[in-house]
Amino acid sequence: MEVKIFATRYDLAHGAAEHFLSRSDECVVRKGSFTVALSGGSTPKTLYQVLANAGEKFCREIYWPMIHFFWSDERHVPPDHPESNYLMAYENLLSRVPISKEKVHRIMSENPNAAEVAEQYEEVVPQRFDLILLGLGTDGHTASIFPGSEVLHETKRLVAAPWVEKQKSYRITMTLPLINNAASVVFLVSGAEKAEIVKEVVEGPKRYPAQEVRPINGELILMLDREAASKL
Ligand code: 6PG
Repeated sequence: MEVKIFATRYDLAHGAAEHFLSRSDECVVRKGSFTVALSGGSTPKTLYQVLANAGEKFCREIYWPMIHFFWSDERHVPPDHPESNYLMAYENLLSRVPISKEKVHRIMSENPNAAEVAEQYEEVVPQRFDLILLGLGTDGHTASIFPGSEVLHETKRLVAAPWVEKQKSYRITMTLPLINNAASVVFLVSGAEKAEIVKEVVEGPKRYPAQEVRPINGELILMLDREAASKL
C-alpha cells in the first residue's frame, strides 16, 4: 500500500483529482472509456468540488463523456434523500461537468427491497474497475462493509445488501471480490478524528474491514491529510 500525505484537506482533494485525471486519461486513450466507483460520506465532497471547479484544469482536461460512473456503496434511501451518496455526487460533480447521462449507473436504492437492488446492480457493474474510491470510518469500515458484517466473508457476489445494525438500516455495497479486482483503489481519509484508525489500519494487526482491501492485480493508495496521518 502506497501512503500519500497532503498538508490540508484541500491539498488531499487536489492530489486525488490529479490521480483521477491521470488514470482517466490513460484509460480513455488506451480503451476509449473509464470506469470509476465514487465513494460516499463527506470526505470525497471536496474532491468532487475540485473536479468540477471551473477555476481548475480538471473540468476542462478530463474526458467526462467517456466516463462510466458507479458508486462503491449507497444508503438504502431514495436518490433525493439528504443521505444519498448519489445526491452528494450529483450536486457537487455530475450536474456540473459534461458527463454522458446514460453512463451514470446509479444504485436504484429507492426500491424497498434492498436485496433486489444489490442483484440489479450486480448486473451492471464491470468485473474490473479502472478506479474505486473508498473512505474509512473511525470503526475501520469501508464502503458499507462494517466490522462483523457477513459481507466480509463474501467470496462470490460482487454487490450485497447487508443489514447494518449500527445504522439500523440496509446498505448496498460492493463486496471485497469486486473491490479487490480493481486496477486502482484509492482511500481518501481526512481529519484528526481518523488519525487513530489510520494508525491501526496501517500499522496494526489485521482486524478491520478496510484492511481486507488488497487489490489482487492493482494499485492501492492511501491518501491522507496531515491531520489523519498525525499518528503514523
Ligand atoms: C458511506 C461511505 C462510508 C464512508 C466512511 C467515511 O456511505 O458513508 O461509503 O464508507 O466512506 O464512513 O465517511 P466520511 O468521509 O464522512 O468520514
